[in-house]
Amino acid sequence: MKLYDRDAAQNLRRLLGRFTLAPVAYLPTPLDDCPHLSETLGGPRILIKRDDMTGLALGGNKARQFTYSLGPAIDQNCDYLIHGSDSQSNQSSQTAAAAARLGMKSITVVPRDHRSYPVSGNLLLNHLMAEQVIYTMPAAVEVEKKKVIKRLKSEGHRPYETSQDGAILRAVAYVDGVIELCEQLEERGVTPKAIYTSSMTYTIVGLVVGLRALNACFSAVGFNYSVGNDQEMKERLAPLADECARTIGLDLTFTPDDFDVTCQFAKPDFGEPSGTSLKALRLVARTEGIILDPVYTSKAMDGLIHHIQENRFTKQDVVIFLHTGGIPALFAYGDEIFG
Ligand SMILES: Cc1ncc(COP(=O)(O)O)c(C=O)c1O
Repeated sequence: MKLYDRDAAQNLRRLLGRFTLAPVAYLPTPLDDCPHLSETLGGPRILIKRDDMTGLALGGNKARQFTYSLGPAIDQNCDYLIHGSDSQSNQSSQTAAAAARLGMKSITVVPRDHRSYPVSGNLLLNHLMAEQVIYTMPAAVEVEKKKVIKRLKSEGHRPYETSQDGAILRAVAYVDGVIELCEQLEERGVTPKAIYTSSMTYTIVGLVVGLRALNACFSAVGFNYSVGNDQEMKERLAPLADECARTIGLDLTFTPDDFDVTCQFAKPDFGEPSGTSLKALRLVARTEGIILDPVYTSKAMDGLIHHIQENRFTKQDVVIFLHTGGIPALFAYGDEIFG
């Protein structure tokens, strides 16, 4: 079976060549064989695609996504990057780092929540890199962010909000990431059955569009990190995949059934590890010296381990795990990890 269609990859590269790229990530990222983890699980060969090593202030999928989604900020000569989310948001610290790398300034809006004190993890990184960190009540983050943007515009600045602005380009970045991965697999002579990832939106959309565009012989499996309904998630993602394809100039359409995604391993809640996700985090650390994070990747690894235990793979199979980063938050979770 052919791994992917090389002509399609060439055409896709041509289409992607039209986008302005922001040079904020080290790419390609490594693809690590994990024999000790595979052996311990008695399962398939596992390779970890190291997007935790994209380099931008401790790395992660946001750096790859930003290579495309910050292109318009460069084109529009923006001078501020703005973000606001929970206090351990990876995107906030990656926003602050990207701004610094691109010669811009950044403002982060942070809710006072149970992980904002003591200052640690991503929040600490924000204090190091952002021009300003504005604390507010959790329910007021969006309002505060809008106020900041309005104020900056009234002062003649050109702010760019990294959650909303150019959002679909974050998926386009992972379409490009699929070409990178397929070329690495081809070079190694490896044909996987699937690529597993933590994603609520853009990473999985990009993978699904990229794999279809390349006619690749393996599929993507996404684990949401937020509790919810699987069918609703699929229905939300299909139009985004259409938008992603359209943005690139690909004549492809998608349905909810194109998405193999679940919220099953997000419990007990967003940002709260489960007993089995912490076990997965420790297992990967001890067998491979690879550090997962407590919010995203350990839950996706928990899902992969469950699938291996359900005998979805033979020992001859190969599965890719996409490490999407998030490591700084680990330092705000000492109690759970040692408790
Ligand atoms: C470490 C990490 N993994 C995965 C994700 C999921 O990203 P997305 O839903 O954009 O695919 C995020 C972003 O929220 C993240 O910070």
